[in-house]
Amino acid sequence: METFRAPIGTHDVPPPASAWWEDALGRFAGLARRSGFGLLISPLFEDVAVFDRGIGATSDVATKEMYVFTDRGGRQLALRPEGTASVVRAFVQHRPPTPWKVWYATPAFRYERPQAGRYRQHHQVGVEALGSADPALDVEVIALAARFYEALGLRQVRLLVNSMGHPECRGAYVALLAQYLGAHATELCEEHRERAQENPLRVLDCKRPACVAVTERGPQLPDHLCEECRDHFATVREGLASLGLDTTLAPRLVRGFDYYTRTTFEFVSDALASAQNAIGGGGRYDGLAEQLGGPPTPGVGFGSGLERLRLAWEAEGAGDPAADPRADVFVVDTTGGQRATTLADALRRAGLVVERAYDQRSMKAQMRLADRSGAAVAVLVGPQELAADSVTIRDLRGAVEGAQVSVPASDVVAAVRERVTER
Ligand code: HAM
Repeated sequence: METFRAPIGTHDVPPPASAWWEDALGRFAGLARRSGFGLLISPLFEDVAVFDRGIGATSDVATKEMYVFTDRGGRQLALRPEGTASVVRAFVQHRPPTPWKVWYATPAFRYERPQAGRYRQHHQVGVEALGSADPALDVEVIALAARFYEALGLRQVRLLVNSMGHPECRGAYVALLAQYLGAHATELCEEHRERAQENPLRVLDCKRPACVAVTERGPQLPDHLCEECRDHFATVREGLASLGLDTTLAPRLVRGFDYYTRTTFEFVSDALASAQNAIGGGGRYDGLAEQLGGPPTPGVGFGSGLERLRLAWEAEGAGDPAADPRADVFVVDTTGGQRATTLADALRRAGLVVERAYDQRSMKAQMRLADRSGAAVAVLVGPQELAADSVTIRDLRGAVEGAQVSVPASDVVAAVRERVTER
């Protein structure tokens, strides 16, 4: 028989490892809600032009790496490579009152060369805020990311910031950069020797030593911003500092999308190897709504890769990766299993984490499972208990391990609660 594996560059996250994901998503949802972001659910695929807007030099993510397909109706669609363009498409479609603040948790698809920390399906949590150019919103969005990483227990995180300026001041800078790169073309890496002039900003993003050596010495974006963009950037950095968030100026941080204007940022984990050390990133995209056919509407947001966060968390030793959610109580029923069904239901309705055995296993086998479940107590039902409409409650850990009492079946919730510490 043919067997199947998850496609290259994708992976399953089964329990108990997925408990970390549940926890991370819960924390993110809570933080976003407390900052006034509502959940946006939107389609995983869109018209391909939502992502590949074909204006000027587009990013690799939107061209070479996209999963594009034609549906049965002949429509050209793409699996989302990221969340931002979908959110802005939804904004333009629905025209909600601004500021419109939404969060999302979504898979994203990029046909990349798979390696540690780089996958063809990864998962992002993110926020987008549309309708205000106030630098306070940049600060709020960046701070939300920082607080999320703190909540996950990450400590070795650095915040890199840059400003891309607005189209005019950036345009002047790009012309200057193109001229500089032209003069140093022979020193660039093989790819950019040919292609530097197509999109000079991409060369700033090139990690190859040859390009780095050239661009390090060249004109730097932050030195060529107009006064307004410079003020905006300074206010963002001051705002972050007022929250105790240190920033490192990264003048060559341009990020992988063509929509950025003004603030761009990336959070890197010093616990990860540098090729895949970005745990989150984002910035402003004040022209994107217009590019998607909407009214001019500024926006700012970020996305953070859950796989990368998990890797950083493991690398930092920020928690015990083996820690899995424990049961509160295990129901052992040697009378056929029907009592286990009703008792488990009653205990679960009371909010307890309940496990039980199936397939009419022996007492010994069920007790072994009870021990393995990590439950604090076992609720036992044998023929005697069944006849007396009672249960036996046995402590499985703690000071009184092995101690047991008999209580009427109707008191089971209270008796178990007494023995299970609140968490
Ligand atoms: P991005 O930097 O392309 O930005 O992706 C955001 C984060 O997703 C990265 O920092 C990284 O943690 C994770 N990530 C990206 N690609 C992969 C991959 N192939 N495998 C594993 N993890 C990956 C965006 O997507 C923008 N939409 C962010 C944004 C929101 N800008 C404004 N608003």
